[in-house]
Amino acid sequence: MLDKINESRLFLENRLSGKPKIAVVLGSGLGALIQQIEIFEEVDYASIPHFAASTVAGHKGTLILGRLNNVELLILNGRTHYYEGLSMKEIVFPIRVLHALGIQTLILSNAAGGLNPSFAIGDVMIMKDHLNFFGDNPLIGKNYDELGPRFPSMNEPYSHRIIRLAHEIAKKHTLPLQQGVYAGVSGPNFETPAECKAFYIMGADAIGMSTIPENITARHLGMEVFALSVITDLAVIGQMEEISHEEVLKAASIATPTMVKLIQEMVTYL
Ligand code: HPA
Repeated sequence: MLDKINESRLFLENRLSGKPKIAVVLGSGLGALIQQIEIFEEVDYASIPHFAASTVAGHKGTLILGRLNNVELLILNGRTHYYEGLSMKEIVFPIRVLHALGIQTLILSNAAGGLNPSFAIGDVMIMKDHLNFFGDNPLIGKNYDELGPRFPSMNEPYSHRIIRLAHEIAKKHTLPLQQGVYAGVSGPNFETPAECKAFYIMGADAIGMSTIPENITARHLGMEVFALSVITDLAVIGQMEEISHEEVLKAASIATPTMVKLIQEMVTYL
């Protein structure tokens, strides 16, 4: 595994000039941030050693080196998911490569179903914590002490410092922001009404099929993590309607201006 990380790192170091400290992972339908970015280099996942390409609509599958608001960033434009049949280790491999390239701060984004009845479609939720219901974990198996400890602490999965910063920016620009707990499940089916009720009772405000494996891996590596969920449908008990991936993508695009504005300003303070 360490050799694979190094091979990917060397390949990308040859392709990319610059030493960004911040990376952003763009989730379903959230590619609009790219339009604000001055792109220096774009590399297909398929051409990067050991990177898996996403098979899901709305996930492009390129690594971008660019500049946003005068700050250099690496962007994972599209991600892979557990439900695609990949192992947890395959899903989180790009996060380990980002760390090897010098990334210290990771901004994750996703599309999620809203469980909290006060949420509306198009809301942006800051993830303050999560519930891992994947039934799997990227850190299972041999621990590489070079990457992080066998038993990493998860007392602060999402950086309190960056969450405070996000609230300050939102206040300054009167951006509507929710905050809550994200439950992560394997999918690919959307949840049943009973599952939605159970996750809400357990303390989740939103539910989705990504982000947690990447968060666990990044925290294991000692990176600071911030994450946003765009609420694309209401998985609220009594209000559930049939949903489709197309509707998720459409709703995600409604919320992108808030997300873009927040990330754009945030990167200048990190
Ligand atoms: N459930 C799980 N994942 C999702 C949802 C949902 O309702 N919406 C977008 N991703």
